[in-house]
Amino acid sequence: ATNRTLTILKPDCVRKNHVGDVIAHIQKAGFKIVAMKMTRLTAATAGGFYEVHKERPFYGELCAFMSSGPCVPMILEKENAVADFRKLIGATDPAEAAEGTIRKLYADSKGENIIHGSDSDENAAIESAYFFAKSEEVANLA
Ligand code: CMP
Repeated sequence: ATNRTLTILKPDCVRKNHVGDVIAHIQKAGFKIVAMKMTRLTAATAGGFYEVHKERPFYGELCAFMSSGPCVPMILEKENAVADFRKLIGATDPAEAAEGTIRKLYADSKGENIIHGSDSDENAAIESAYFFAKSEEVANLA
């Protein structure tokens, strides 16, 4: 079925001027952009987004990184969006990511891995609401 996923082009993607390259890669793979903005998270907002990781040793570093500069969240739509997008971006650690994936092409490290992708339909909806009001989603993609 056609569904949606939430992605974030992380601050390292913006800093390295790869926003256009990564969006082109995503669009060539057939994803439609339903919503998009550029914003800078506070450490507290990043902390809320990554709440599930708050007991992890890298949580502080993750929140500092995600609030270190502007990022570009987007809601994307495609057939089987969540799973296909995870495949397109590749493994969390770019060193383990498959050839041709976005992380393999553009990311430097596990901590600074250029892009986020939701891991389930349920989280895609929760994460989308974290960044976008319903009124910011285009009603008709045609
Ligand atoms: P992502 O899967 O988008 O969301 C959780 C993030 O935590 C993950 O990307 C990584 O960027 C980050 N992360 C996971 N493991 C580590 C780690 N060992 N050190 C630093 N950051 C990590």
